[in-house]
Amino acid sequence: AETHYHEFVIEAKPVKRLCRTHNTITVNGQFPGPTLEVRNGDSLVIKVTNIARYNISLHWHGIRQLRNPWADGPTYVTQCPIQTGATYTYRFTIINQEGTLWWHAHTDWLRATVYGALIIHPQLGSPYPFSTPKQEYTILLGEWFDRNPMDVLKLAQFTGAAVNVSDAYTVNGQPGDLYRCSSQETVRFPIESGETVLLRIINSALNQELFFAIAKHKMTVVGVDAKYTKPFTTRVIMVGPGQTTNVLLTADQPPAHYYMAARAYNTAQNAAFDNTTTTAILEYKSAPCGAKKGQSSKPILPQLPAYNDTATATAFNAGLKSPYQVKVPTNIDENLFFTVGLGLTNCTRPNSPRCQGPNGTRFAASMNNVSFVLPRKNSIMQAYYQGAPGGVFTTDFPPVPPIQFDYTGNVNRGLWQPVPGTKLYKLKYGSRVQIVLQDTSIVTTEDHPIHLHGYHFFVVGSGFGNFNPTRDTANFNLIDPPERNTIGSNPGGWVVIRFVADNPGVWLMHCHLDSHFGLGLAMAFLVENGVGESQSVIPPPADLPPC
Ligand code: C2O
Repeated sequence: AETHYHEFVIEAKPVKRLCRTHNTITVNGQFPGPTLEVRNGDSLVIKVTNIARYNISLHWHGIRQLRNPWADGPTYVTQCPIQTGATYTYRFTIINQEGTLWWHAHTDWLRATVYGALIIHPQLGSPYPFSTPKQEYTILLGEWFDRNPMDVLKLAQFTGAAVNVSDAYTVNGQPGDLYRCSSQETVRFPIESGETVLLRIINSALNQELFFAIAKHKMTVVGVDAKYTKPFTTRVIMVGPGQTTNVLLTADQPPAHYYMAARAYNTAQNAAFDNTTTTAILEYKSAPCGAKKGQSSKPILPQLPAYNDTATATAFNAGLKSPYQVKVPTNIDENLFFTVGLGLTNCTRPNSPRCQGPNGTRFAASMNNVSFVLPRKNSIMQAYYQGAPGGVFTTDFPPVPPIQFDYTGNVNRGLWQPVPGTKLYKLKYGSRVQIVLQDTSIVTTEDHPIHLHGYHFFVVGSGFGNFNPTRDTANFNLIDPPERNTIGSNPGGWVVIRFVADNPGVWLMHCHLDSHFGLGLAMAFLVENGVGESQSVIPPPADLPPC
């Protein structure tokens, strides 16, 4: 195994998109940021120096960080941010993970532009479980704001209203041919007729689940979230923020140029969102240059599902299975039921500029009615390690909702106003955990992509309506469910995950729509140390940023 050393400098650089230049927070002046490529078993040492005007921390999304929460990164959860002028070195080892992950800023909305791919190849001499593709391409789907994303966030935080939508979706930072001033830079992926390539598709968008398709081509899904899947063929994939999908693509169509395209999958009622389409070009090398007689030189667009096509998203997710029988935990020790959803908080002065939500309220979001608040003076992990939770966090996160109701019903907002708190749920080392994640229909039904730090989990069941333990438990897949780190709740539905709490530390679980995370759609687990050093959190590094 190898150790890879990298230097990341967080700095503002002018970036031009959609005809305008913005001073953009980048890593090493690159947008998107550098791709990290390693092998399973390798270690990474990434020295991060922050010379931008915002404090920041970086998260290695999907990396298990076994016993090493110090390298996980979420600001005020496992570390205090790296302040302007300061440096912190992330050190971690890849243990039993192969496929596609990514890294991103985990401070406010800085991840809008501070993100990149993290590619984990098999160990030397160990092949893919499919024939080795001729080439590999990384496709980072993102969102571009025609203004400073931090200002967009600040405005929403001030007014309590919905956040402004972005101005374009992007492929590797480029909006593509269908947006103004963008066609010069449209990303092109050359391919030889007949050859098969591996596409690593990452949804790094801030607030949007996406459909992705390639004109005239089918894709064979072979992995998600750095876990292999049983290959299945599809014309369209749905990828939520935080998720990754690896597909094989064979150039089996007449030599030409074909669009790859992505646009929103958005199930929230009455929500403003951008329904435009980002494109890149799949370019057969043997394609005739320019237009042939009677032919247009314009690539063909793929058919993308409608923005609210939940049936297609559901069918895609249902196709994902582990390639072999897996060890799903049974004899559950912790049977948890978490609601995930939006909420509204009443304002005493509903006409104030701070109460621009529906009917003079402010938007909020919660799990089990607790709206997660990040501490500001210390990180949760540091407070825990120092044995001083006082004032930073409590461990009374409720295992079930305080009030149960018809989650699919038209819920009166008086019934459900989230209570702010920094509440953790304690897990004993090694406990077998099941969590039902139930969408509430408060304000709107919505597919919430829920991400758990520090773990992979098995997705054993999902459905629509209210979760019914007797009926739904019987249908769980305990044989070959997919393993993921991020999963959608289903709009007006539920999803059930299982894992063994074998990674001690403080681990955040949250909606990966950053607008919802900011509103409090989060909680954290405190997984206690087990017996002896091998089941305990390692000591913090000396350069952990001071609070
Ligand atoms: Cu990819 Cu907590 O995030």
